[in-house]
Amino acid sequence: MDKDFRRETVSRLRHLAQAFATNPREAARLVPEGLASYFEHPVDYDVDDSWELRLHQWLDVPWPCSERQAGQEVWNAVVREVQDRGLAFGRHTYGQYSDGDAALGRALWCTVRHTRPAVVVETGVARGVTSRIVLEALERNGEGHLWSVDLPHPFEPDLRAQTGIAIPAHRRSRWSYVEGSSRRRLPGLLRELGRVDLFVHDSLHTARNTRFEMERVGRVLAPGGLMFIDDISTHQGFADWVRGIARARTLICPSEDGEGLFGIVAPHPAGRAVRA
Ligand SMILES: C[S@@+](CC[C@H](N)C(=O)[O-])C[C@H]1O[C@@H](n2cnc3c(N)ncnc32)[C@H](O)[C@@H]1O
Repeated sequence: MDKDFRRETVSRLRHLAQAFATNPREAARLVPEGLASYFEHPVDYDVDDSWELRLHQWLDVPWPCSERQAGQEVWNAVVREVQDRGLAFGRHTYGQYSDGDAALGRALWCTVRHTRPAVVVETGVARGVTSRIVLEALERNGEGHLWSVDLPHPFEPDLRAQTGIAIPAHRRSRWSYVEGSSRRRLPGLLRELGRVDLFVHDSLHTARNTRFEMERVGRVLAPGGLMFIDDISTHQGFADWVRGIARARTLICPSEDGEGLFGIVAPHPAGRAVRA
């Protein structure tokens, strides 16, 4: 057995033991995730350098975009607020998980402002950066609601107090926090909602979990609805799912810090994403 493999396996087992100690029901769901992740492989995507322009073409709105600057200002304010609490912002700041990235934040801001979704679902909250961006944009729209499915940090209970701290009380009226793994909570939520206009995956970035969430949301995504899938390059989940959808359009977008990729997919061929 090679040394790295052994170290990785020991670290996973230690994490799993911690998770079982705090939440056995959710920890049991991590076992198949952990096993499946041994069969993951990175995917070498062709990055679309003009993704922001192309996203706006999909949305059928002019570029340069009048909303982009407003989105950037909201983003800067959210980062400042997190830092003012004495917390580091960015990669691997919530255990092994990271705060949302600026490019993804901008893409979400513009999409919510231009498409005015009524029903937004996301998975993965951590401190709540992407949630906050969506909530600020919904507030400016004066309509819409966000449901966020989130398993608070499964391995580091001390971090749980930070869940959603980027979302102040006065921005919570359009927000429903659904606690638990997406595998446990997403299907019931989607049944209840019946339709999703916009989906954001930012939870457990394994091929198995990403495919599961995309498959479930894909069944109820409204015509013209979009999915934003973070951290797609470390596993084959996004590529696999998209390959199975005959006429899906995709954008492969670089994160602002250049360390990761997120994907945007319009699974339905039909026209505009814009509702209003
Ligand atoms: C990358 S962070 C989310 C970052 C957040 N969207 C932001 O912009 O700040 C991932 C989050 O998903 C949670 N998580 C991990 N596994 C999960 C699962 N199976 N289902 C739902 N949430 C999960 C983690 O505890 C963490 O809160």
